[in-house]
Amino acid sequence: MLDAKGLTKSYGQVRAVVDVSLSISNDRIYGIIGPNGAGKSTLFRLLSGFERPHAGTITFDGRRIESLAAHRRAELGIVRSFQELELFPELTAGDVLTTAGLLHDKLADARERARETAATFDIPWNVRATELNPGMIRRIELARCILARPKVVLFDEVMAGLTIPEAEFMCENIRLLHESGVAIVIVEHVMHVVRSLCRHIYVMASGRMIAQGAPDEVANDPAVTAAYLGTRKRGALA
Ligand SMILES: Nc1ncnc2c1ncn2[C@@H]1O[C@H](COP(=O)(O)OP(=O)(O)OP(=O)(O)O)[C@@H](O)[C@H]1O
Ligand SMILES: [Mg+2]
Repeated sequence: MLDAKGLTKSYGQVRAVVDVSLSISNDRIYGIIGPNGAGKSTLFRLLSGFERPHAGTITFDGRRIESLAAHRRAELGIVRSFQELELFPELTAGDVLTTAGLLHDKLADARERARETAATFDIPWNVRATELNPGMIRRIELARCILARPKVVLFDEVMAGLTIPEAEFMCENIRLLHESGVAIVIVEHVMHVVRSLCRHIYVMASGRMIAQGAPDEVANDPAVTAAYLGTRKRGALA
Protein backbone atom coordinates (compact mmCIF):
# COMPACT_ATOMS: atom_id res chain seq x y z
CA MET A 1 0.00 0.00 0.00
CA LEU A 2 2.69 2.52 1.12
CA ASP A 3 6.23 1.83 -0.06
CA ALA A 4 9.31 3.93 0.51
CA LYS A 5 12.70 3.22 -1.02
CA GLY A 6 16.04 4.84 -0.27
CA LEU A 7 14.64 7.88 1.54
CA THR A 8 17.32 10.36 2.59
CA LYS A 9 17.00 13.70 4.37
CA SER A 10 19.66 15.91 5.95
CA TYR A 11 19.46 19.14 7.92
CA GLY A 12 22.82 20.77 7.25
CA GLN A 13 25.37 18.33 8.65
CA VAL A 14 22.73 16.24 10.45
CA ARG A 15 21.81 13.14 8.48
CA ALA A 16 18.32 12.65 9.90
CA VAL A 17 17.19 9.88 7.51
CA VAL A 18 19.67 7.84 5.50
CA ASP A 19 18.66 5.42 2.74
CA VAL A 20 15.53 4.21 4.55
CA SER A 21 13.08 1.80 2.95
CA LEU A 22 9.86 0.40 4.36
CA SER A 23 6.70 -1.27 3.18
CA ILE A 24 3.32 -0.84 4.86
CA SER A 25 0.01 -2.57 4.20
CA ASN A 26 -3.20 -2.95 6.19
CA ASP A 27 -2.56 -6.61 7.06
CA ARG A 28 -1.06 -5.76 10.49
CA ILE A 29 -0.10 -2.83 12.68
CA TYR A 30 3.47 -1.65 12.13
CA GLY A 31 5.70 -0.05 14.75
CA ILE A 32 8.76 2.14 14.37
CA ILE A 33 11.06 2.32 17.35
CA GLY A 34 14.50 3.78 17.95
CA PRO A 35 16.37 6.05 20.36
CA ASN A 36 15.71 9.79 20.55
CA GLY A 37 16.90 11.54 17.40
CA ALA A 38 16.88 8.30 15.36
CA GLY A 39 14.91 9.97 12.56
CA LYS A 40 11.44 8.53 13.21
CA SER A 41 9.50 11.81 13.08
CA THR A 42 11.53 12.95 10.09
CA LEU A 43 10.57 9.75 8.29
CA PHE A 44 6.90 10.50 9.05
CA ARG A 45 7.33 14.04 7.70
CA LEU A 46 8.76 12.61 4.47
CA LEU A 47 5.96 10.05 4.11
CA SER A 48 3.20 12.60 4.82
CA GLY A 49 4.67 15.33 2.61
CA PHE A 50 5.53 17.86 5.31
CA GLU A 51 9.08 17.67 3.98
CA ARG A 52 10.66 16.43 0.75
CA PRO A 53 13.40 13.79 0.69
CA HIS A 54 16.74 14.64 -0.93
CA ALA A 55 16.67 11.17 -2.45
CA GLY A 56 14.37 8.18 -2.63
CA THR A 57 10.87 7.31 -3.80
CA ILE A 58 7.48 6.90 -2.13
CA THR A 59 4.70 4.90 -3.76
CA PHE A 60 1.12 4.83 -2.48
CA ASP A 61 -1.47 2.52 -4.04
CA GLY A 62 0.84 2.10 -7.05
CA ARG A 63 1.31 5.85 -7.57
CA ARG A 64 4.51 7.86 -7.02
CA ILE A 65 3.80 10.55 -4.45
CA GLU A 66 7.14 11.91 -3.21
CA SER A 67 6.56 15.20 -5.05
CA LEU A 68 2.97 15.70 -3.85
CA ALA A 69 2.18 18.37 -1.25
CA ALA A 70 1.02 17.26 2.21
CA HIS A 71 -2.62 18.22 1.60
CA ARG A 72 -2.72 16.21 -1.63
CA ARG A 73 -1.35 13.15 0.18
CA ALA A 74 -3.96 13.68 2.91
CA GLU A 75 -6.67 13.68 0.24
CA LEU A 76 -5.30 10.36 -1.03
CA GLY A 77 -5.67 8.97 2.50
CA ILE A 78 -2.27 9.43 4.15
CA VAL A 79 -3.03 10.98 7.52
CA ARG A 80 -0.68 11.67 10.41
CA SER A 81 -0.81 12.72 14.03
CA PHE A 82 1.73 15.11 15.53
CA GLN A 83 4.24 14.32 18.26
CA GLU A 84 3.87 17.79 19.79
CA LEU A 85 0.52 18.61 21.36
CA GLU A 86 -0.31 21.59 19.20
CA LEU A 87 -3.93 22.35 18.49
CA PHE A 88 -4.85 25.86 17.36
CA PRO A 89 -5.54 27.61 20.69
CA GLU A 90 -8.34 29.76 19.29
CA LEU A 91 -10.29 26.74 17.99
CA THR A 92 -12.68 24.64 20.03
CA ALA A 93 -12.50 20.84 19.98
CA GLY A 94 -15.60 20.86 17.76
CA ASP A 95 -13.89 23.20 15.27
CA VAL A 96 -10.81 20.97 15.10
CA LEU A 97 -12.88 17.85 14.43
CA THR A 98 -15.10 19.59 11.87
CA THR A 99 -12.05 20.91 10.02
CA ALA A 100 -10.66 17.38 9.68
CA GLY A 101 -13.92 16.26 8.03
CA LEU A 102 -13.74 19.12 5.50
CA LEU A 103 -11.00 17.23 3.68
CA HIS A 104 -13.71 15.14 2.01
CA ASP A 105 -17.10 16.40 3.16
CA LYS A 106 -19.15 19.60 2.87
CA LEU A 107 -19.45 21.68 6.05
CA ALA A 108 -22.83 20.37 7.24
CA ASP A 109 -21.78 16.74 6.74
CA ALA A 110 -18.37 17.36 8.29
CA ARG A 111 -19.98 18.94 11.35
CA GLU A 112 -22.46 16.10 11.74
CA ARG A 113 -19.77 13.41 11.51
CA ALA A 114 -17.59 15.42 13.90
CA ARG A 115 -20.45 15.63 16.43
CA GLU A 116 -21.02 11.88 16.25
CA THR A 117 -17.32 11.17 16.73
CA ALA A 118 -17.05 13.67 19.60
CA ALA A 119 -19.95 11.92 21.32
CA THR A 120 -18.41 8.48 20.79
CA PHE A 121 -15.06 9.65 22.19
CA ASP A 122 -16.55 11.81 24.98
CA ILE A 123 -14.85 14.91 23.58
CA PRO A 124 -16.35 18.19 24.83
CA TRP A 125 -17.54 20.18 21.80
CA ASN A 126 -17.24 23.81 22.86
CA VAL A 127 -14.05 23.75 24.90
CA ARG A 128 -10.91 25.47 23.58
CA ALA A 129 -7.75 23.39 23.10
CA THR A 130 -5.85 25.45 25.68
CA GLU A 131 -8.25 24.28 28.40
CA LEU A 132 -7.84 20.57 27.69
CA ASN A 133 -5.50 18.08 29.35
CA PRO A 134 -2.97 16.02 27.33
CA GLY A 135 -5.18 12.91 27.40
CA MET A 136 -8.07 14.78 25.80
CA ILE A 137 -5.83 16.46 23.23
CA ARG A 138 -4.45 13.05 22.18
CA ARG A 139 -8.03 11.80 21.93
CA ILE A 140 -8.86 14.73 19.63
CA GLU A 141 -5.77 13.88 17.54
CA LEU A 142 -7.05 10.32 17.14
CA ALA A 143 -10.59 11.49 16.29
CA ARG A 144 -9.18 14.05 13.85
CA CYS A 145 -7.25 11.29 12.03
CA ILE A 146 -10.35 9.09 11.82
CA LEU A 147 -12.53 11.94 10.51
CA ALA A 148 -10.07 12.55 7.66
CA ARG A 149 -11.20 9.20 6.15
CA PRO A 150 -7.69 7.71 6.14
CA LYS A 151 -6.30 4.72 4.26
CA VAL A 152 -3.12 4.85 6.32
CA VAL A 153 -2.48 6.67 9.61
CA LEU A 154 1.00 7.53 10.91
CA PHE A 155 0.75 7.93 14.69
CA ASP A 156 3.74 9.73 16.22
CA GLU A 157 3.97 8.97 19.96
CA VAL A 158 0.24 9.25 20.63
CA MET A 159 0.68 7.62 24.06
CA ALA A 160 3.19 10.20 25.35
CA GLY A 161 2.07 11.77 28.62
CA LEU A 162 -1.02 9.60 28.96
CA THR A 163 -2.24 7.81 32.09
CA ILE A 164 -2.59 4.02 31.84
CA PRO A 165 -6.39 4.13 31.26
CA GLU A 166 -5.95 6.86 28.62
CA ALA A 167 -3.27 4.80 26.86
CA GLU A 168 -5.54 1.73 26.95
CA PHE A 169 -8.35 3.77 25.40
CA MET A 170 -5.97 4.90 22.67
CA CYS A 171 -4.71 1.33 21.98
CA GLU A 172 -8.24 -0.04 21.79
CA ASN A 173 -9.30 2.60 19.27
CA ILE A 174 -6.18 2.19 17.16
CA ARG A 175 -6.96 -1.53 17.05
CA LEU A 176 -10.55 -0.82 15.99
CA LEU A 177 -9.37 1.58 13.29
CA HIS A 178 -7.05 -1.12 11.97
CA GLU A 179 -9.84 -3.72 12.02
CA SER A 180 -11.90 -1.36 9.85
CA GLY A 181 -9.24 -1.80 7.13
CA VAL A 182 -6.95 1.18 7.74
CA ALA A 183 -3.18 0.67 7.57
CA ILE A 184 -1.49 1.81 10.78
CA VAL A 185 2.09 2.76 11.62
CA ILE A 186 2.96 3.89 15.13
CA VAL A 187 6.14 5.51 16.36
CA GLU A 188 6.28 4.64 20.03
CA HIS A 189 8.73 4.55 22.94
CA VAL A 190 6.48 2.61 25.31
CA MET A 191 7.55 -0.97 24.54
CA HIS A 192 4.59 -2.79 26.08
CA VAL A 193 2.32 -0.75 23.80
CA VAL A 194 4.47 -1.67 20.80
CA ARG A 195 4.45 -5.33 21.81
CA SER A 196 0.72 -5.46 22.33
CA LEU A 197 -0.24 -3.61 19.12
CA CYS A 198 2.44 -4.28 16.51
CA ARG A 199 3.21 -7.47 14.61
CA HIS A 200 6.03 -5.95 12.57
CA ILE A 201 8.61 -3.54 13.94
CA TYR A 202 11.09 -1.32 12.15
CA VAL A 203 14.05 -0.13 14.21
CA MET A 204 15.84 3.12 13.39
CA ALA A 205 19.10 4.45 14.82
CA SER A 206 21.14 7.46 13.65
CA GLY A 207 18.87 7.92 10.63
CA ARG A 208 19.20 4.35 9.40
CA MET A 209 16.86 1.39 9.44
CA ILE A 210 18.95 -1.10 11.42
CA ALA A 211 16.49 -3.98 11.90
CA GLN A 212 12.97 -5.14 11.22
CA GLY A 213 10.83 -8.13 12.05
CA ALA A 214 8.48 -9.57 14.65
CA PRO A 215 8.74 -7.98 18.14
CA ASP A 216 10.68 -10.90 19.65
CA GLU A 217 13.10 -11.00 16.72
CA VAL A 218 14.04 -7.33 16.97
CA ALA A 219 14.19 -7.40 20.79
CA ASN A 220 16.86 -10.11 20.55
CA ASP A 221 18.80 -8.46 17.74
CA PRO A 222 22.29 -7.45 18.98
CA ALA A 223 22.34 -4.38 16.68
CA VAL A 224 19.14 -3.13 18.31
CA THR A 225 20.42 -3.64 21.85
CA ALA A 226 23.65 -1.87 20.95
CA ALA A 227 21.76 1.07 19.44
CA TYR A 228 19.80 1.55 22.65
CA LEU A 229 22.65 1.00 25.06
CA GLY A 230 24.86 3.38 23.10
CA THR A 231 22.53 6.30 23.73
CA ARG A 232 20.82 7.99 26.63
CA LYS A 233 17.58 6.21 25.95
CA ARG A 234 14.18 7.48 26.98
CA GLY A 235 12.30 4.21 26.67
CA ALA A 236 13.31 0.74 27.75
CA LEU A 237 13.60 -1.92 25.09
CA ALA A 238 12.00 -4.78 26.99
N1 LIG B 1 14.05 20.90 11.45
C1 LIG B 1 15.22 20.38 11.82
N2 LIG B 1 16.38 21.06 11.71
C2 LIG B 1 17.55 20.54 12.08
N3 LIG B 1 17.70 19.28 12.58
C3 LIG B 1 16.58 18.56 12.73
C4 LIG B 1 15.28 19.06 12.37
N4 LIG B 1 14.37 18.09 12.64
C5 LIG B 1 15.05 17.04 13.14
N5 LIG B 1 16.37 17.32 13.19
C6 LIG B 1 17.43 16.41 13.65
O1 LIG B 1 17.28 15.21 12.91
C7 LIG B 1 17.52 14.07 13.72
C8 LIG B 1 16.29 13.18 13.71
O2 LIG B 1 15.24 13.85 14.42
P1 LIG B 1 13.79 13.23 14.58
O3 LIG B 1 12.96 14.26 15.26
O4 LIG B 1 13.33 12.70 13.29
O5 LIG B 1 14.09 12.01 15.57
P2 LIG B 1 13.05 11.06 16.35
O6 LIG B 1 13.49 9.66 16.09
O7 LIG B 1 11.66 11.43 16.00
O8 LIG B 1 13.37 11.43 17.88
P3 LIG B 1 12.38 11.45 19.16
O9 LIG B 1 12.26 10.04 19.62
O10 LIG B 1 13.15 12.28 20.16
O11 LIG B 1 11.09 12.09 18.75
C9 LIG B 1 17.90 14.61 15.10
O12 LIG B 1 19.31 14.69 15.16
C10 LIG B 1 17.28 15.99 15.11
O13 LIG B 1 18.01 16.86 15.96
MG1 LIG C 1 10.05 12.10 17.07
